[in-house]
Amino acid sequence: MAYECILTEVRGDGALKTGVITLNRPKQLNALNDQLMDELGAALLAFDADDTIGCIVLTGNEKAFAAGADISLMAGYSHMDAFKKGHISRNWETIRQVRKPVIAAVGGFALGGGCELAMMCDVLIAADSAKFGQPEIKLGIVPGAGGTQRLPRAIGKAKAMEMLLTGRMMGADEAERSGLVSRVVPAASLLDEALVTAGQINAMGQPSVMMIKELVNEAFESGLSTGVRYERRLFHALFGTEDQREGMGAFLEKRPASFTHR
Ligand code: HXC
Repeated sequence: MAYECILTEVRGDGALKTGVITLNRPKQLNALNDQLMDELGAALLAFDADDTIGCIVLTGNEKAFAAGADISLMAGYSHMDAFKKGHISRNWETIRQVRKPVIAAVGGFALGGGCELAMMCDVLIAADSAKFGQPEIKLGIVPGAGGTQRLPRAIGKAKAMEMLLTGRMMGADEAERSGLVSRVVPAASLLDEALVTAGQINAMGQPSVMMIKELVNEAFESGLSTGVRYERRLFHALFGTEDQREGMGAFLEKRPASFTHR
């Protein structure tokens, strides 16, 4: 499929490689329109289905990861445009279906739907230039892709409530302090740092990687005892894999592990 609003490439030289998706509407600060969301969904599913890909990196440009849903598109919407045709709100579930880890490499603005998109990813690495916010309140709406649910889970109720009610932005350092991002790196090395993390994950056994992604997401979607029971079952299941034999054998033989399922 030829894409117009995103760029895709494959990086890395290990057994498993990294699929990179770059949001590419620079003139509109990568504002998310239906075409971009459709292309993003298709690219994520294509990388997820590709056995040579272990991880996916999602990024934007120096000025913006994404400044939110496209306001010029939404401005004239009726309730039925938004609800029935599913404009703007389509494909967010597709993003959540992807079983391989998705690393958001965020530089510049990540606002509204852009912040929600970043929060949906599994690892969030920020450039020192990153600015996060949910400014929907200033547009007379509320977030529509999980912002009111994921932001409080990430940074706590008080800070999330303040950001959501005032629309104020949060810089990269505050985002790291608050637990929104895993780390902050210089803007010039953002993609390289994300690719290093992806490479580390690609060297692990894929069943463990995919199960950890599933289990951590479960932590946000079920009660503690259900999540812990689910974790125990997958933990037991991994004793049926070559990767468990290899990983534990390599430790005991004091050598690096070389996993089969990569
Ligand atoms: C459409 C946008 C846009 C957006 C920026 N642009 N954000 N177009 N939708 N979300 C366009 C501008 O209109 C402008 O186009 C160009 O990008 C550059 O933006 P400027 O405003 O000139 O840049 P700057 O002064 O640096 O300000 C950057 C900014 C500001 C602070 C990010 O653009 C801004 O506040 N944008 C809106 C952010 C926002 O409200 N996002 C939430 C959207 S609602 P021209 O043609 O003038 O050059 C949402 C709901 C999600 O996301 C629902 C999901 C289901």
